Amino acid sequence: MAYPAWVDEAWNKSTGKIRRTSERIGASFPHLSIDGRYDDETIDWWTNGFWPGLLWVAYRENGDESLRRIAEECEAKMDKAFLDFYGLHHDVGFMWLLSAVADFRITGNPDSRRRGLLAANLLAGRFNHAGRYIRAWNDDKVGWAIIDSLMNIPLLHWASEETGDPRFSQIARLHADKLLEHFVRPDGSVHHIVEFDPETGEFVQAFGGQGYALGSAWSRGQAWAIHGFVLSYNHTKERRYLDAARRVGHFFIASLPDDSVPPCDFRCPNDGLWIKDATAGSCAASAFLDIAAALPELDGALFRRAAEKMLRSLYENCGAWDSDEEGILTKGTMAYHQERGRNVPIIYGDYFFVEALAKLRGETRSMW
Ligand code: GLY
Repeated sequence: MAYPAWVDEAWNKSTGKIRRTSERIGASFPHLSIDGRYDDETIDWWTNGFWPGLLWVAYRENGDESLRRIAEECEAKMDKAFLDFYGLHHDVGFMWLLSAVADFRITGNPDSRRRGLLAANLLAGRFNHAGRYIRAWNDDKVGWAIIDSLMNIPLLHWASEETGDPRFSQIARLHADKLLEHFVRPDGSVHHIVEFDPETGEFVQAFGGQGYALGSAWSRGQAWAIHGFVLSYNHTKERRYLDAARRVGHFFIASLPDDSVPPCDFRCPNDGLWIKDATAGSCAASAFLDIAAALPELDGALFRRAAEKMLRSLYENCGAWDSDEEGILTKGTMAYHQERGRNVPIIYGDYFFVEALAKLRGETRSMW
């Protein structure tokens, strides 16, 4: 499909920046860029898949072997996180889909397949059978589930596709159905966190989580829902997941401000100083391209147009092109009520921006 000229410009600038940043940070684990330099997280941090994922997305298109070597090194280092174990939780999909599974899909490396299956077994082991949900985090949060987890369950679908054993995929469907029932509100917005009774699985209460308040609409949470549901559709072809992605997607598009860069929360006080979250924009835009691809052309056009508009605005209004900033997109925000990680580049914002550009340029292979 034809795409506008700015897309190649944005792609070339982004991959140039990835190359330059890779020369400084190598096989480290960037999360936030503070004062222009990416930090380096502990080995079990949930975002550790995004840097190798970004390297694989670039490598898949340009064959730059130096990027591949760094991605492989990150993946090998992450083996320590398996043994440390206590730091791991529902986000093992983010961690190993974008590192080991990406490697396996691109190169066929058998060690990468083993790592992906090990991570899938850890994720499946978090399933609460009475409640039919995958529990979030650790410690006393035994009844908690969160919307972000929808992005992790493609690891389970991959494990079933890879092994021919349907157990993983069964868990993924049950979890997605539980979230569809309890997280998606009648207006198309979603909760961030819901607590269930871990013995019976009954709904206990919802929490505002990283958004403004209970009942508000944390924009990245909306993006996780849109992206997670369309990925569930891509793996299962179950229409209810595509319909859910469209519904939350309509809410997201209707809530966008004029510049198409989401605020951190769509339902927070607008005092003229809206905290932006470019990461929600890039994650949702990438998902919109999948929704568009799943729909007949005239239905999908709404989502394709929204994705192009958002990505162009991110490129023009948030791209850190003229400085030696290591991040690609500025204006990412971790959580509404937190000073740290506000209006800065965040690695997953960069990842989804580049993933979406690759899709606009015609790439159809999924990283999920
Ligand atoms: N809870 C993961 C995130 O910040 O989106």
